[in-house]
Amino acid sequence: MPQGSSILLIIGGGIAAYKSLELIRELKKRGCAVRAILTKAGHQFVTPLSVAALSGEKVFDDLFSLTDEVEMGHIQLSRSADLVVVAPATADLMAKMATGQASDLATTALLATDKRVLIAPAMNVRMWQHPATQRNLATLAGDGIAVVGPNSGDMACGEFGPGRMAEPLEIVAAIERLLDGASVSPPAPSLAGRHVLVTSGPTHEPIDPVRYLANRSSGKQGHAIAAAARRAGARVTLVSGPVAIADPAGVETIHVETAQQMLEAVERALPADIAVFAAAVADWRVASASGDKIKKAGGRAPALALTENPDILATIARHRQHRPALVVGFAAETANLVEHAQAKLASKGCDLIVANDVSLTGSGIAGGVMGADSNAVHLVSASGITTWPTLGKDEVATRLVQHFAALGAEWT
Ligand code: C5P
Repeated sequence: MPQGSSILLIIGGGIAAYKSLELIRELKKRGCAVRAILTKAGHQFVTPLSVAALSGEKVFDDLFSLTDEVEMGHIQLSRSADLVVVAPATADLMAKMATGQASDLATTALLATDKRVLIAPAMNVRMWQHPATQRNLATLAGDGIAVVGPNSGDMACGEFGPGRMAEPLEIVAAIERLLDGASVSPPAPSLAGRHVLVTSGPTHEPIDPVRYLANRSSGKQGHAIAAAARRAGARVTLVSGPVAIADPAGVETIHVETAQQMLEAVERALPADIAVFAAAVADWRVASASGDKIKKAGGRAPALALTENPDILATIARHRQHRPALVVGFAAETANLVEHAQAKLASKGCDLIVANDVSLTGSGIAGGVMGADSNAVHLVSASGITTWPTLGKDEVATRLVQHFAALGAEWT
């Protein structure tokens, strides 16, 4: 991010406004100047005092007085920044932006600015999915407005799905990209015409009709990669184990339970140009699952004989007929991350390993990368190691897809 960049932050009225306070802190840490406009609804969620204390600047709102106009007109306010960021961008603000309304200070500044605008939408899942909001989103994208998020997950209103505002670090990363792109932002590398195959989530290996072996994978990272590849114009097939998150829009999603079924679905989906194996496939299954529920028998625990599951990544990376041009695996490690990833690169025969530093994000058992919203990764390939900072899983997905598209030139 260029030192001394200046951001005009418009805080709309949504519960996610509390995250905008964190966003101000992160931007200030990176040497940005932040001026904020608080909408009338925004006042219901955060106070001008907290915004002013964190930004170190006067907060502008609809009580914009004559003195303010003399010191700094609203036109100047909208143009003095390098970038205008709307976070949270409510359904109402998006609708007003899409129809060019100038009914208060925030919308007037958005209409008057000659700078790029980034919005971080946040709203109830039904409001987000409503055709009116999706129409407004398409209009805003057509106007050159950049968008970060929303993410999927539990919402403050008790529902589940897309609508959560992107995390502050994801918004910072999007701001960095826009600012580093100078005045003309380069178009994201496209995957149009490519077929991308992604595995995601855990597998469930049956013990008997009611019990199974599994792991804590949430599928968030794999699903985010599938969605990002779709956004980049690819045809995407997602083979997902049992997860509690929605199928990404526009992605052909095949639901499976076991590693064996996942392998079969992956083989059926070939050929593909890129295959990304983000699933946490169970290493073992019960050699012969019982057809009937296993009953307790006089205090004796049943002995479960395990047998190894097929390695889907290694199988596809060595596929004789249809090896994808780019095969990507994941490796979650707590120690000697890069060494293990390099060894895995060779043993699996893939082109790239995305290594998760699980030790950085949590303690292992229930915490950690599995189920979390952020991820710290290293990209390990024959040509070297690239380390990224801790980023939201959506941001990791977007960057990975850009990386794959950039590599495309090498494998066409
Ligand atoms: O060997 P390990 O499980 O650490 O390797 C992780 C990578 O291999 C991930 O990309 C995972 O999706 C893939 N994998 C697979 N089939 C397995 C085991 C792992 O595709 N049976």
